[in-house]
Amino acid sequence: MVKVTTSVLREMKRRGEKISALTAYDAPTAKILDEAGLDVILVGDSVGNVKLGYDTTVPVTVEQMLHHTQAARRGVSRALLVADLPYLSYHLSLGETKLNAGRLFKEGGAEAVKLEGGLEVAATVKALVEINIPVMGHLGLTPQAIHKIGGYKIQGKTPESAEKMITDAKILEGAGVFALVLECVPPDLARTITAKVSVPTIGIGAGPHCDGQILVTDDILGLTGSSAPGFAARYADLGRTIRSAVSKYRRDVRSGRYPRRTSRR
Ligand code: KIV
Repeated sequence: MVKVTTSVLREMKRRGEKISALTAYDAPTAKILDEAGLDVILVGDSVGNVKLGYDTTVPVTVEQMLHHTQAARRGVSRALLVADLPYLSYHLSLGETKLNAGRLFKEGGAEAVKLEGGLEVAATVKALVEINIPVMGHLGLTPQAIHKIGGYKIQGKTPESAEKMITDAKILEGAGVFALVLECVPPDLARTITAKVSVPTIGIGAGPHCDGQILVTDDILGLTGSSAPGFAARYADLGRTIRSAVSKYRRDVRSGRYPRRTSRR
């Protein structure tokens, strides 16, 4: 078993090997993803939408991220475990940012943190890398800025915004990120950024040219229903499977068939 590290990911980019990544927020799911051989497991702040019932990722706290990171940590042994820094945990001061990232790293067991933004977070990235916390960047559609962006839509469509994103990617690379998530970016722009930076790009709704792909696990397993974005391929319909199993259980309890029938089906 080769443990995935930030340098393994860089080497994968060099060799043209695609990086596979998904989210996990709890130990059993993280264990299944790890056993399936994923390279990166992200404890995303998407936990807010996917598990905690919020409309956006904005309300997610450091304490919640810590709780879910610790849980995921217990399930992962091979993949690189990355945790999202939630909104307002890296915006106020470098001291507070180091403390929050340090908690996910030290108490949570994350091997890296992810944060959103370009030029405006470059000093933050540098400060974290200086204290030996690897940082993953995130450009394009940045969900923590959803109210400013005004909706979940493709970013970088105009020549100016595309140029800015390329500049931001280079700045983040210079600041020391080890990888870069590109979310909801036109495929050609994702291809350009991927060619211009030496660190791996991980796309989500950004076409096929990135060095890797990431999706929200619950979306590809059919657990998020109609709120799953269109680019998230569905590999299973667990929502339907669970509904059907639970209805069967309910019927069995009502009819007295359970607990009389206890054998596994
Ligand atoms: O929070 C999240 O899940 C993310 C994605 C890139 C999947 O940031």
